[in-house]
Amino acid sequence: MRKFIQKALEKLNKMDKEQIKNILCHISGENELLEMVLNSMTDGVVVIDQQYRVLLYNKSFARMMLFNQEEIPDEELWSIINDEEIAAFLKEKLINQEKIIDKEFTLENSINRIISVSIMPLVKEKKVQGNLVHIEDVTEKRSREARLRRAESLAALTTLAAGVAHEIKNPLGSIGIHLQLIQKEIGNREVIKSETIRKYLDVINEEVDRLNRIVVDFLFAVRPMDTKLEEQDLNQVLKDLFNFLQYELKESGVKLKVKLAEQLPKIKIDEKYIKQALLNLVKNSLYAMQDGGSLIVRTERAGGAVLLIITDTGTGIPDEILDKIFEPYFTTKDFGTGLGLTLVYKIIKEHMGEITVKSKEGEGTTFTISFPIPQKEKRLIDYKGEAV
Ligand SMILES: Nc1ncnc2c1ncn2[C@@H]1O[C@H](COP(=O)(O)OP(=O)(O)OP(=O)(O)O)[C@@H](O)[C@H]1O
Ligand SMILES: [Mg+2]
Repeated sequence: MRKFIQKALEKLNKMDKEQIKNILCHISGENELLEMVLNSMTDGVVVIDQQYRVLLYNKSFARMMLFNQEEIPDEELWSIINDEEIAAFLKEKLINQEKIIDKEFTLENSINRIISVSIMPLVKEKKVQGNLVHIEDVTEKRSREARLRRAESLAALTTLAAGVAHEIKNPLGSIGIHLQLIQKEIGNREVIKSETIRKYLDVINEEVDRLNRIVVDFLFAVRPMDTKLEEQDLNQVLKDLFNFLQYELKESGVKLKVKLAEQLPKIKIDEKYIKQALLNLVKNSLYAMQDGGSLIVRTERAGGAVLLIITDTGTGIPDEILDKIFEPYFTTKDFGTGLGLTLVYKIIKEHMGEITVKSKEGEGTTFTISFPIPQKEKRLIDYKGEAV
């Protein structure tokens, strides 16, 4: 196309009116095609020059940014955009010449529509000639993700419910047997030995306690969490927690080493739940270090995340059970419920975080939790009120 115009320009003075008209028609046809392609796109595109004036835009951009399509005033891009937050963002990033990929915003003027904005420099002959701003409506994408999460939650709930049923069977069976024994004891004898009956009743009491614990933990695991995420200094939360735990740690003969990163960005957490999760991890570590050892707690920043790393020098976890430890009711302890790590997992997921584990038998275990660093503009769809 460009070559064709170049050639036409060179021969312009030798052309007659008809030939020039043909060329103009051809160019306007090409232009219309380009316009048609741009306007058929669902994504919004705008091209601006070095002074941030609009050179070209498509209908989707105008629709999403709600500016008048007919006349674009000769002003900087951000002053014609109808969303204050996006306008301020574009102004800052364009002036600082930053390349931006997929920054998410919730549109101020419509309910819960999420827009992803990218800024790319327009380069010609190795020089930046302006910028291209691309916007995409990612609302459906995000709600698809939310639906997927819900389906996963449902699957997890089914596993959990199956686990509960299984767990309840044993104490119920034992209660049944002991009730029969009591009946037999009463039925066969004229003088009842209260000592024997008391022994059976003690067992029944214990089993009822166990049932109660199973039900309480189950309810805690399935109930939607009322997490209230607030921006907080994770280091401070850790200091509070380990201050509270210092006597218990001393008593168990475990050395605590805390290495907190300086100037750690704040993250969105619910202190109550995070402390609960960490307590569960510490409890497991202490159990694994009954002959003493060290508990090392570190915080770090890694890219867009804050890492919390908890290492113990305990017994370690055998390879063959490493991928089961987060499953509901998985335990290797006589009196464990096996819900400790399930709850940790659920709490970390509620915080949009990830948890991974590395362990070596006989050497120890490391849990690494990563929390996303919030971008004020990045508001994900609210998942509140969903089970598990
Ligand atoms: N730090 C650790 N070191 C060694 N083994 C561990 C550690 N953390 C977890 N485990 C293993 O993972 C299993 C599951 O842990 P989880 O906390 O879910 O349940 P639990 O501790 O057995 O019972 P509870 O519900 O009382 O916490 C444990 O039984 C143990 O075998
Ligand atoms: Mg535990």
